[in-house]
Amino acid sequence: MLDKRTQSLKIATAETLATLQDMRRWGVEHIYENSPSAQELLPPCAELESSNSTAAPCRVETLEEIRAEMGDCQRCLLSSTRNNLVFGAGNPKAALVFVGEGPSRREDEQGEPFVGEAGQLFNNILFAMGLTRDAVYICNVIKCRGPHNRDPGVDEIAACAPFLKRQLNAINPQVLVALGTLAAQSLLQDKTPISKLRGGWCSYNGIDLMPTFHPAYLLRNPEFKRELWQDMKQVLQRLHSKDM
Ligand code: URA
Repeated sequence: MLDKRTQSLKIATAETLATLQDMRRWGVEHIYENSPSAQELLPPCAELESSNSTAAPCRVETLEEIRAEMGDCQRCLLSSTRNNLVFGAGNPKAALVFVGEGPSRREDEQGEPFVGEAGQLFNNILFAMGLTRDAVYICNVIKCRGPHNRDPGVDEIAACAPFLKRQLNAINPQVLVALGTLAAQSLLQDKTPISKLRGGWCSYNGIDLMPTFHPAYLLRNPEFKRELWQDMKQVLQRLHSKDM
């Protein structure tokens, strides 16, 4: 009989192998290392100090200030059934921001984005990209879970929209990834299906935006993981090209 430690080690090894084999199927040939960190991609302070701007400096609001303003948000009906508002998580100075759709059950329970089953796949995608959750910022179009996971209504999307816009303005990333239809269509104000949008560079307020499939969609349609990986390789190339 195996002792408990050996048994959990065997399970962890089998799980890791299964994850790596799955990544192989999406076309991941190697795990990226040393993807530029958010800090490395920030312009050096000296560059800002040496600019001779005489304009009065304007301060960009912080994520904490935006979160504080949302407070115990009651701006739409989702507030009556949610457990936790899921504001976002990660590096407030991230060069790369992922925007998902909205919290599911696990996210609603924990108040963190992408911690359920789709979150596990999302973590694997980050891992293959050589990134961690702390290096990027992760948020959603909708901050509260719909009852029985129903799709958000137009009024609910509209209530959250100004906060997402302010979050993205506060972070000012170099690259944005829109995960799934709702994220892509909300950010781009474009009704084109995600299957047509994905893989092509778009722009959101001057920020490069890559629309791609949502991890939950990929759990149901794993044959499209290859397309997602193609899109993420483009994202890494774009980040590296900005890392001067
Ligand atoms: N799906 C999303 O779009 N966002 C989450 O945070 C979790 C699942």
